[in-house]
Amino acid sequence: MIVKTIELTRTYRRGPSHIVAVNKVNIEVEKATFISIIGPSGSGKTTLLNLIGLNDHPTSGKILFMGKDVSRLADRERRKIRLQSIGFIFQTFNLLPTLTALENVELPMALANVPHKVQRKKALKLLGKVGLTNRLQHLPRELSMGETQRVAVARALANDPSLILADEPTGELDSKTATEIVNLLFTLSKEHKTTVIVATHDEKIVEVADTVYTIQDGRLRLEG
Ligand SMILES: Nc1ncnc2c1ncn2[C@@H]1O[C@H](COP(=O)(O)OP(=O)(O)O)[C@@H](O)[C@H]1O
Ligand SMILES: [Mg+2]
Repeated sequence: MIVKTIELTRTYRRGPSHIVAVNKVNIEVEKATFISIIGPSGSGKTTLLNLIGLNDHPTSGKILFMGKDVSRLADRERRKIRLQSIGFIFQTFNLLPTLTALENVELPMALANVPHKVQRKKALKLLGKVGLTNRLQHLPRELSMGETQRVAVARALANDPSLILADEPTGELDSKTATEIVNLLFTLSKEHKTTVIVATHDEKIVEVADTVYTIQDGRLRLEG
């Protein structure tokens, strides 16, 4: 098992009001599965991915990552797990604007102290897999949105993560480009035996997913 949450809860306090963004979520995620979580805007998708991605602290409940309780680890430990074991893909791509496509894919490896030669070789291989061998030296602003998201997919795979978290990864893309990105993410995740959790409204993602959950008011349910 990759991730398990136990009664995972995150509340936000805003003055007198109290929002339960993620409400007692129990999910068990097996290795190499492709999971989608669908829910309307404000239902808690981003909050849940931020908790599972160790970018946020639960208000109550637990997260186990590969069997280890990581809910209350120190920031340094969390950062290490994030860097080595979790890849992130965002709706708005989040590439560094001053780095080339190649450098953006190398960056997570540089942060993990991978030797530069190894970084380069791996980044070239991954950019080949996402079909961007002819865009290595392009800056993000010189790429189309589909190409930009391909770079983000390559970057997410850079440190061979056990888990990729994708928050509405096709939200900014036209339908044809979205289909290409979904197929790419699906194929590469199966090839690399990486677990993927995607928060989305996109029917194309829901169709390929091994397991589909819905989320409403912070409550997660297995679909069907
Ligand atoms: N930092 C925050 N402070 C206060 N409320 C927040 C914060 N982030 C999210 N929320 C609230 O939590 C709920 C879930 O938000 P979010 O996880 O972003 O939903 P989704 O990604 O499904 O659109 C919403 O009601 C939102 O307004
Ligand atoms: Mg969101």
